[in-house]
Amino acid sequence: MIMLENVDKVYRTARIETLALANINLTVEDGEFVAVMGPSGSGKSTLLHLMGLLDAPSTGSIHLSGKEVRAWGDRRLARLRNESIGFIFQSFHLVPDLTVLDNVEIPLLYRKMTGSDRRKRCIRALEQVGLGSRIHHRPGQLSGGQQQRVAIARAIVGEPRILLADEPTGNLDSQMGDEILQIIEELNKQQGTTVVMVTHDPRMAERTARTIRLFDGRQVN
Ligand SMILES: Nc1ncnc2c1ncn2[C@@H]1O[C@H](COP(=O)(O)OP(=O)(O)OP(=O)(O)O)[C@@H](O)[C@H]1O
Ligand SMILES: [Mg+2]
Repeated sequence: MIMLENVDKVYRTARIETLALANINLTVEDGEFVAVMGPSGSGKSTLLHLMGLLDAPSTGSIHLSGKEVRAWGDRRLARLRNESIGFIFQSFHLVPDLTVLDNVEIPLLYRKMTGSDRRKRCIRALEQVGLGSRIHHRPGQLSGGQQQRVAIARAIVGEPRILLADEPTGNLDSQMGDEILQIIEELNKQQGTTVVMVTHDPRMAERTARTIRLFDGRQVN
C-alpha cells in the first residue's frame, strides 16, 4: 500500500517557487492498477517521483506498507527502491554507453544471482517488449519507441511489487502501445503488481480500475 497524507511539493529555484503538488491525500492499495491524468505541468511526474521515493515531499508524509518513509535511512531507502519499485521515466534515463542488455541488467546487479541467470532474465524481459533482436545495440542506435521499450524492460526485469510508469506508451504507435499495456496488465493481474501509470490517453486510462486526476497540483476527483 502506498499512502500520501497532506502532501505538498514546492520546487524552489533562485527566482521562483512552484507549488507542484498541493494537499494530496490518496491511497493506492496493493494490487491496484491506477491511472494518473491531468494537463501538462499539473504535477503528474512529481507525484510519481514521490511515490517512487526518488524525492521527498515538502510537507506531509508518505507511507509504504504502513510505515512512514521519512524515518528510513538512505541505505534502506535505496534497497527498498531497488527491490520493490520499478520506474519507467518519462525521458527513459538510459545509460548511453551501455548496450540495451547492460541497461536492462542494472536493477539486477544488486541481487544475489549468477551472471547467467541475470542475462536470461534480461533477455526474457527484452523479448517481452519485442526487442530480442536489439540487445547489443546502444540506446543512441534505437528509435524513440524502442528506447521506451528498453526502459520498460528495465523496470519489469526485477519483478517489482510496485510499477510506476510515466507515460509508458507516450512514444509508441497505437499497436505497440497496446502491446505494452497488455504486458503491464498481465503483471498486474497475474503477479499482483501494483501499477500507477501516468497517461494522456483516455483509452489507456479506461482500462484501469481508477483514475487520479490532477489540475494545477491539486486532486480534482
Ligand atoms: N526540478 C524542478 N524544478 C523546478 N520546477 C519543477 C521541477 N520539476 C517540475 N517542476 C514544475 O512543477 C510543475 C509540475 O511538473 P510535473 O513535471 O510534475 O508536471 P507533469 O504533470 O508531469 O507535466 P507533463 O505532462 O508535461 O509531463 C511544473 O510547473 C514544473 O514546471
Ligand atoms: Mg510529466
